[in-house]
Amino acid sequence: MRLNKLNQSKWQVNKMRDLTETIRRRYNRIAPMYNSMDTMIKPIWRKELLADAKGKVLEVGVGTGANLSHYPPGVEITGIDFSPRMLAYAKEQLVNLSQNIQLEQMDAQHLAFSDHSFDTVVSTCVFCSVPDPIQGLREIHRVLKPTGHLLMIEHMLSDNPVLAFALHMLNPVTVRISGANVNRKTIQNLQIAGFYIADVKMLAFKDIVRRIDAVPHL
Ligand SMILES: C[S@@+](CC[C@H](N)C(=O)[O-])C[C@H]1O[C@@H](n2cnc3c(N)ncnc32)[C@H](O)[C@@H]1O
Repeated sequence: MRLNKLNQSKWQVNKMRDLTETIRRRYNRIAPMYNSMDTMIKPIWRKELLADAKGKVLEVGVGTGANLSHYPPGVEITGIDFSPRMLAYAKEQLVNLSQNIQLEQMDAQHLAFSDHSFDTVVSTCVFCSVPDPIQGLREIHRVLKPTGHLLMIEHMLSDNPVLAFALHMLNPVTVRISGANVNRKTIQNLQIAGFYIADVKMLAFKDIVRRIDAVPHL
């Protein structure tokens, strides 16, 4: 019985490792086209979200660095991404920015930072593709200070049953093309990972694209 459970959890770890590698390869492949494909998040939404970033900031899934020029002055930014090719584009932007920005290749599901290291964590359009979103959110919860904020703009499964059905149907196609799931239950995933939802705003496509402010403690 115990051996069965052990084999099962080993199988799950291997499956997640393979999936992570597949998604990383997809982002490496689309990196040169990413900026021209990225039309979902308006620059003004990025600016308004990041106006609330404070102190030591971790941006998870920094991608080609679309947020970097929108941070307010005085914050100290660490951006991580598991795709070296997406990161290479982000690094090109650093020459034009005066902010204190470090970029590192890292998997959001296994953050190499100590507990309670950051005042703010940012993710924009990332948790649709993190292979194990709850594990990624638990890691963010761990590295955020208890007084910190997780600021997100994410698309997710609609609460409307008709839209939700359409998104479930579409999901295999979007995963195959870009590695992005369109049917993630991000609000529920945040709650499972231990977050409280301090604020949510619907930004586009009814309730599909949302801006979220989540906190580790109320
Ligand atoms: C759709 S892009 C968004 C990029 C950027 N945040 C933006 O707003 O344009 C998703 C990014 O998340 C990264 N990503 C997905 N899963 C990840 C993980 N487990 N660890 C680190 N980065 C991840 C991808 O490599 C990609 O750069």
